Amino acid sequence: MQGFLSAERQGAVLRSLRSDEGTLSRDYLAAARDVLRELVAMPDLIQRLPLERKPGCYARNLLAGDENVSIWAIVWGEGSATSIHDHHCSCCFGVVSGVVTETWYRAIDASRAVPTEEQQRQPGYVACMLPSGPNIHRMRNFGPGEAISIHIYGFDHEAHASSIETEYTAVGG
Ligand SMILES: [Fe+2]
Repeated sequence: MQGFLSAERQGAVLRSLRSDEGTLSRDYLAAARDVLRELVAMPDLIQRLPLERKPGCYARNLLAGDENVSIWAIVWGEGSATSIHDHHCSCCFGVVSGVVTETWYRAIDASRAVPTEEQQRQPGYVACMLPSGPNIHRMRNFGPGEAISIHIYGFDHEAHASSIETEYTAVGG
């Protein structure tokens, strides 16, 4: 596939994420959490992968994927940020290196949101969230240096361009 992980490791990871109950189930989220805990515990291996980097921006690198899930390594250039967004699918992520600042928002209408909480996610941090609803967030790397995180999304990377459902503009912050 993409050459970032061996075929064996890709197969093992994708098999472990297969759930009869689908990618919104408790079993799936627990399996995704296990995969992330394993990957964030090997920062040397992840950092040695030939990942794409975009100075000042974030770069997504597909590590493995099938018709149910896709696993990405995201390299956050210093100063990079996502839009304020929610997801059409479950979204699990873990921080491998650097610090990723995650800000949570509350929608006040269909296109605007106000910040409610901000946390610095350190290496080893793992989180899983379900789609849409109140799960609106933004991720940024204030540096110094790059950050790397692993994301597991419950979507077919060949059917959807990204995991983003709706983007918002910030009000009051
Ligand atoms: Fe997100």
